[in-house]
Amino acid sequence: MRPMADESLFVPLGERSYPILITYDHLARLGETIRERMGERPVLLVSDDRVDGLHGKAAEAALGSAGLDFKKYVFPAGESSKNLETCARIWTFLLENNYPRDSVLIALGGGVVGDVTGFVAAAYMRGVPYVQVPTTLLAMVDSSVGGKTGVNHPLGKNMIGAFHQPALVFIDLATLKTLPPEEFRAGFAEVIKYGVIRDEDFFAFCETEREAIFSLDPAALGRTVRTSCSIKADVVAADEREAGIRAILNFGHTVGHAIESLTGYSRFRHGEAVAIGMIAAGLLAVRLGYFDSASQERLEKLVEQSGLPACIPADLATEEIIERLGRDKKVRGGRVRFVLPEAIGRVRIESDISFSALKDVLDEMKE
Ligand SMILES: NC(=O)c1ccc[n+]([C@@H]2O[C@H](COP(=O)([O-])OP(=O)(O)OC[C@H]3O[C@@H](n4cnc5c(N)ncnc54)[C@H](O)[C@@H]3O)[C@@H](O)[C@H]2O)c1
Ligand SMILES: [Zn+2]
Repeated sequence: MRPMADESLFVPLGERSYPILITYDHLARLGETIRERMGERPVLLVSDDRVDGLHGKAAEAALGSAGLDFKKYVFPAGESSKNLETCARIWTFLLENNYPRDSVLIALGGGVVGDVTGFVAAAYMRGVPYVQVPTTLLAMVDSSVGGKTGVNHPLGKNMIGAFHQPALVFIDLATLKTLPPEEFRAGFAEVIKYGVIRDEDFFAFCETEREAIFSLDPAALGRTVRTSCSIKADVVAADEREAGIRAILNFGHTVGHAIESLTGYSRFRHGEAVAIGMIAAGLLAVRLGYFDSASQERLEKLVEQSGLPACIPADLATEEIIERLGRDKKVRGGRVRFVLPEAIGRVRIESDISFSALKDVLDEMKE
């Protein structure tokens, strides 16, 4: 494969600003990069057992060759580890090993490792820096950027957390070679989302270069991750704490979250539920006259060609999806807030969607 030059983006957040480094096959530079940018500090490398087995040795070699003093903490892979117990064990490990205030934590893994490690870092001694080393497409384009950290509670997903921006995001695209295709596809749903909310050219690029992207062609993949990160960075820089514009990142997520919750977070990957949610939001926008049906067809085609679901399985009752939606914080007085497309590349936030319009759309999407 052709080598790709390292690139960097920047998330401008005043004293919380940080770079996103995008490399291809340069995990070996992780240690020296941390050392150059953050100085010599005690390091805790955090990962899950699956990622550790695949990329842990390379990360450890990188930290070792840079002369950094580090230990490793590994927990079982999967969403079921994203809880306070895992955090408590890591806090105990840090304390037992006398990790001081100037320590740095490294999150090597997908969104679960990133969210857990970020939250552990946010609260350890009232906050220590951490570095995101995302290894899933979803984590590269979404969860590693933006500073939302946290864990699940038995009463709700992502309910316990904090805003804590990373000090650095270090992406090695080559780590995706070991990612199962279904995980890659799920992450690609968020990529499609960025095209719809902000960038028609990028959406068109995803349409024409989809095969190259899915075959991990370094140039195509590099542009995909770079553009996605820069859109996310832009939106986060404009609205770090989601008081306004950051809500556009929730395109596809209103119905997506309802379906994930209704199916117990086990039947669909997050990105798969988001794909269904994007189609629902598009159909709603077509029905309301904001979005033309040719654009909706482009969206549906890209979702389907990417191997993502575009329909709602027949056994999921519309009423139950709407009932879940009603528990969402975006609902007031029988009306739901939705991010709706106006064109590929532009969305609006509509706070007055009626349940009946939504019901028609969800019925229409049944398999
Ligand atoms: N903080 C945010 O802003 C934000 C945004 C979106 C999603 N999230 C969170 O992210 C999580 C989902 O992230 P995810 O999809 O990365 O899930 P994940 O971290 O569970 O990773 C999915 C699976 O892929 C494995 N894996 C990771 N990298 C691999 C690689 N390179 N090769 C082989 N296997 C690999 C993992 O071990 C895991 O089994 C959810 O908990 C979600 O709430 C957070
Ligand atoms: Zn998402």
